[in-house]
Amino acid sequence: MSYRYPVPQAKVPERGGRVLLAFENKSLALFNVADQFYAIDDSCPHQGASLCGGRLDGRVIQCCAHGLRFDLVSGYLLNSTQLKVVSYPVERQGEQLFILIDCEESGQ
Ligand code: FES
Repeated sequence: MSYRYPVPQAKVPERGGRVLLAFENKSLALFNVADQFYAIDDSCPHQGASLCGGRLDGRVIQCCAHGLRFDLVSGYLLNSTQLKVVSYPVERQGEQLFILIDCEESGQ
């Protein structure tokens, strides 16, 4: 079962931007990289720091806390499969974006 969270129009980030979205009891970070959208949990799998404010380099987000870098596409720590931030598929229908949230994985 997955839920399609409709991203409010006012929240859709501009090219190169990012937003923090509050959804039920979770925080998601949504990035726009060259008009492709990527959604991840706003919680670093290392020690839980916010990733939304991290340094973006292409499709790689670097956590501000200790500098670990994650691939926005897969969620994995670069060059590793040991650590992974939860990432969510993003669908676009016309102007409307949806984030696909796997209800089981999110524990709800
Ligand atoms: S909490 Fe993100 S690198 Fe440590």
